[in-house]
Amino acid sequence: MESKKVDNVCVIGLGYVGLTLAVTLAEKGLTVFGIEKNEKILGDLKKGKSHFHEKGLNELIQKTKGTTLLLSKEIPAGKAINCFIIAVSTPIDAITKLPRIDYIEKATQEIVPHLQPGQLVVLRSTIPVGATRNVVLPILQKKCSGFYLSFCPERTAEGKALEELKTLPQVVGGLDEASTDAAVELFSKISPLIVRTESLEVAEIVKLVNNSYRDMMFAYANQIALICKSLHLDAKDVIDAANLGYPRADIKLPGLVGGFCLEKDPYILMTSAKSDISLIKAAKQINENTIYHILDSIKSHVKRKPLKDVKFFISGFAFKGDPETDDLRSSQAIKLLELLKKNKANNILGHDFIVSQKQMKNLGVVPVSIEKGLKEADVAVFMNNHRSYANVNMELLAKKMKKGSLIFDGWHIFPEQLKHNDHIAYESIGFSKRVEKI
Ligand SMILES: NC(=O)c1ccc[n+]([C@@H]2O[C@H](COP(=O)([O-])OP(=O)(O)OC[C@H]3O[C@@H](n4cnc5c(N)ncnc54)[C@H](O)[C@@H]3O)[C@@H](O)[C@H]2O)c1
Repeated sequence: MESKKVDNVCVIGLGYVGLTLAVTLAEKGLTVFGIEKNEKILGDLKKGKSHFHEKGLNELIQKTKGTTLLLSKEIPAGKAINCFIIAVSTPIDAITKLPRIDYIEKATQEIVPHLQPGQLVVLRSTIPVGATRNVVLPILQKKCSGFYLSFCPERTAEGKALEELKTLPQVVGGLDEASTDAAVELFSKISPLIVRTESLEVAEIVKLVNNSYRDMMFAYANQIALICKSLHLDAKDVIDAANLGYPRADIKLPGLVGGFCLEKDPYILMTSAKSDISLIKAAKQINENTIYHILDSIKSHVKRKPLKDVKFFISGFAFKGDPETDDLRSSQAIKLLELLKKNKANNILGHDFIVSQKQMKNLGVVPVSIEKGLKEADVAVFMNNHRSYANVNMELLAKKMKKGSLIFDGWHIFPEQLKHNDHIAYESIGFSKRVEKI
């Protein structure tokens, strides 16, 4: 294979996916034109500051900015670009759950005036199967021919994206052999392992299959949790015992399924399918219902007391704690907050190890320390699994809570410390220990 030149790259959309990829390529010495239309984000990036938390990211921006990383609002004219990477958002519609590909269409249209034969266009965003061929290709073909087109999904976990970009296998699918070759050439610069797929569509569906599988694994655990609770068994104990030393079980613990990708990717797979989707649909439903079970537990704990008279403490607003992030998109803590507010709760204290106090105030909660939150709350809810909870002496803090208050532990962080105390009620998904109510 004759190697294609893919050393001058233009990344369109500098969000979680585009920015981490742009700095990774720039650090490798490629010239990277980073395009971001949001002026606030772009302004901060030009000052060397990312708009989201990712370990090591600000250092890399500062290291590459102005040399190999060149930031602008629009694709610069007359530059020797030989590869465009589209990394814009593909959210789903809140009501219909259908994927929105208008950002993809717009970004593709913006490439068109710059497109020349021999250039490579890579789609990195998560899309319905067939969208590269049926949406992106026709837009590009209107102006040009002889370009290469590839789909290469992003599969990193927020919080360790910079590390995973260099270690995870990169899945590559092309419009034709030459397109696949060109994309392999590009991703070989950062990744030790390339997975060449047969077609664009195989690469597209791989991403959806990965995330829908993960969603289903949690759904299984969440359903087992409900079964265990109904039988007055502790789901964590059951799952730990089922897994221990047994080679044919790797059952997840029940938990809160959130985050931008897990929330939407199963829906994008369902939209793409032309066959039975009942299993994926049921899994999604089970995971989406988990937050209502937490609300039911809270209501059942406070009995008839209206939620407006209950003082809440929520800890862990980011959609996950490990690896740590400040991403609030599709966070179950935000969903819980909305539900509590719908139920007229208005006395809500909040804490997060990473999310800023300003962000929390914007959500309408009062930022406090864990100590203060627990001391004052009638109901405390732990909504993510940040590693720093391991340093919290919950046994001691729980004793300082009001007698009969509730801790709902959404991630099974504190069972050893709280399961057998008789001062407060302790619940998790699939476990409930009640004491005298407030
Ligand atoms: N967040 C993740 O960890 C992750 C992981 C895997 C895949 N994905 C997928 O990658 C895609 C991007 O996700 P994200 O989380 O980075 O989204 P994001 O919303 O954080 O970033 C998209 C960025 O693109 C910018 N943008 C939109 N249109 C533009 C245009 N025409 N020109 C320049 N800038 C433009 C937006 O202002 C925004 O900053 C989505 O399809 C997502 O599903 C995300």
